[in-house]
Amino acid sequence: MTSTKGLEGVVATQSSISSIIDDQLTYVGYKIDDLAENSSFEEVVYLLWNQKLPNKSELDTFKAELAANMELPGAIIDHLRSYDLSTVHPMAGVRTAVSLLGLYDDQADVMEEQANKQKALRIQAKVSAVVTAFARIRQGKDPVKPKKDYGYAKNFLYMLNGEDPKDIEVEAINKALVLHADHELNASTFTARVCVATLSDIYSGVTAAIGALKGPLHGGANERVMEMLTDIGEIENAIPYIDEKFKNKEKIMGMGHRVYENGDPRAKHLRRMSKELSKVIREDKWYNMSVKIEDYIKEQKGLPANVDFYSASVYHSLGIDHDLFTPLFTVSRMSGWLAHILEQYNNNRLIRPRAEYVGPKTQKYIKMEDRK
Ligand code: COA
Repeated sequence: MTSTKGLEGVVATQSSISSIIDDQLTYVGYKIDDLAENSSFEEVVYLLWNQKLPNKSELDTFKAELAANMELPGAIIDHLRSYDLSTVHPMAGVRTAVSLLGLYDDQADVMEEQANKQKALRIQAKVSAVVTAFARIRQGKDPVKPKKDYGYAKNFLYMLNGEDPKDIEVEAINKALVLHADHELNASTFTARVCVATLSDIYSGVTAAIGALKGPLHGGANERVMEMLTDIGEIENAIPYIDEKFKNKEKIMGMGHRVYENGDPRAKHLRRMSKELSKVIREDKWYNMSVKIEDYIKEQKGLPANVDFYSASVYHSLGIDHDLFTPLFTVSRMSGWLAHILEQYNNNRLIRPRAEYVGPKTQKYIKMEDRK
């Protein structure tokens, strides 16, 4: 038995949700470029969960259902208020609060397909309120209730800031949500599938997935990109800073990908959005610095930017706290996790691979009194 480090190249399941073939990402066969340019996030969630694009009336109903389920149980808000959130990373807060949502859902352990679909809707609706409530409570502010006639992206910004966002801001968040929604068998999605393949409940599946997304090699990279840009400070420091990272053999966050050979097809959309927003806020430093770094790393190492690289300057331009970047990724990827969880339940088999044992073999047991 031999192992493949990091399961690289291992095909672990069949799925009809998203695919990466020849550096093209599609959701249910629709190109990410078309979806990013044309779709609302709700349309994409519907697509991922139903494997078809909704017609107008299906979409209207779905949007209304999401908006109607966004509000959090008061107990979740009380819990968030009971912690000293100033010392808690929001990803830990969101992971805990999403898990807690399961305690307030009397259907949490009902495993029928229809019940799981309804829970998926409730979780997707509420995760955005969890992130925004966390953000406001730690600033000493009250959470803002969602508006039933606002779309998902607009409600996110409205609940975060307590004021109506500009159209360009809604467009940017919507695009980011669409681009991050699903990504084949990425680490957090695989985690979710492994968890529910034991026939554990849907809340356990998404909570496990949030834990996996939190890491800097996965969703946590976007926050680290902004940390790096801030550390660099001025554009003329960018190349020496990157050279120093190369010298120390440190990874550059937001660069490289396990699956794409010639670049992540999502990055260009966020790069464009980053440029557009830099004009709106009249601060092009972060965009220009990002371009400089991207070009240099491509030239020196052949490594292209991934989805996290330009999402950092996009979110920064929208005034979002840097430690909320990964929670925002969570809000979007929740839709993909839920799609994969429902797919896993539909055609389940326990996921239980083997390990190649490389430890000591056939040791002779030594009694306690004889051990050195
Ligand atoms: N910066 C510098 N070098 C990088 C790199 C990066 N971001 N990503 C990969 N490399 C180099 C590695 O050092 C390694 O070089 P070597 O063969 O000379 O040792 C080679 O490329 C392969 O890297 P490896 O870490 O084995 O690739 P992986 O497929 O296991 O990892 C990522 C993929 C995404 C985890 C990796 O590219 C990375 O850590 N990127 C930064 C974190 C990030 O942006 N994550 C979000 C992904 S969407």
